[in-house]
Amino acid sequence: MIEKTLQHFNIDGFQQDLLTWYQANKRDLPWRADQDPYRVWVSEIMLQQTKVDTVIPYFQRFIDKYPTVYELADADPQDVLKAWEGLGYYSRARNLQNAVKEVVATYGGKVPKDREELGALKGIGPYTRGAILSIAYDQPEPAVDGNVMRVISRVLKIEENIAEQRVKKLFEAYVREIISVNDPASFNQALMELGALVCTPKSPDCPVCPIKEHCTAYREGIQQELPIKTKAKKQKRIPYAVLLIKNQKEEYLIEKRPDSGLLANLWHFPMVPLEEVEFDEIANWIFREYGIRVTLHDKLGELKHVFTHLIWQLDIYNAETDDSNIKHSELIFEEKRNLKAYPFPVSHLKMMKYL
Ligand code: ADE
Repeated sequence: MIEKTLQHFNIDGFQQDLLTWYQANKRDLPWRADQDPYRVWVSEIMLQQTKVDTVIPYFQRFIDKYPTVYELADADPQDVLKAWEGLGYYSRARNLQNAVKEVVATYGGKVPKDREELGALKGIGPYTRGAILSIAYDQPEPAVDGNVMRVISRVLKIEENIAEQRVKKLFEAYVREIISVNDPASFNQALMELGALVCTPKSPDCPVCPIKEHCTAYREGIQQELPIKTKAKKQKRIPYAVLLIKNQKEEYLIEKRPDSGLLANLWHFPMVPLEEVEFDEIANWIFREYGIRVTLHDKLGELKHVFTHLIWQLDIYNAETDDSNIKHSELIFEEKRNLKAYPFPVSHLKMMKYL
């Protein structure tokens, strides 16, 4: 099937047109300043699920703070989470730090060039492995993300559901066949860049595309119909009441999340699951869970926080308590001005305006 699709495909011509365009049009991005494998790694982890414009300032701050594997390996995990605050998918930060520790402990601080060793590190899947091997080490390995699947599905007219793992493997096999062995670093980044700048999801700018002569979807006028992606299941909505509980010293109650699962190790204001707790029972529930007596006041607003598999529907309330002696390392009253020292999820950062 791969052979048949590529039978009349001009691989050399495609590479040349793509690479020439990339050299002239590539964006000047901070992780492109050199081929340092640690920097490439950090950038690729940040760029998963996150747009380039969002990543740029995070990447720069992160690299200033942790310029090499050694500083990151030695860092306090809470500081690393704080540096990641707002980027989302926080397990990425934890996995990255754990993997970097392993690089220091096992590989003398050098990011492995070996495919198996690199792929065995925490948080490094086929995409990140391919990106590091090609971009930092010039190895002709595919690095297939959503952008790349979109471009290739159009160029080669691949009408398979890109949401399936099997299909991602198929795209990797195609890229293996067409990748430039002389310059795999530019080749992979050129596919990503084309996907970001020209071959965009809704309205690809085909007239200016450097590889339109090679593109079957363009030839047939079906570029808007590709790639095929059958939507995953709709996210479940979970309603919560979030309480901004103030004590008499004007301190607010915050708690630390467990060290695994959603938003692991981040801090937030107490959340009452409204699917399980009747509105009139909120104060009792807080007493059972936190051991403090609260009085609920007005509703301050609503927020929505969208995750991959679920949506938090948050109603935010003012609350007060006379109790303030909680002695628990993961549940504390803290002054408003000190809250910025803790890593919070974005939805809870947005509530700070109500304090
Ligand atoms: N998206 C993922 N990796 C990228 C990279 N290296 N450059 C630009 N966009 C990207």
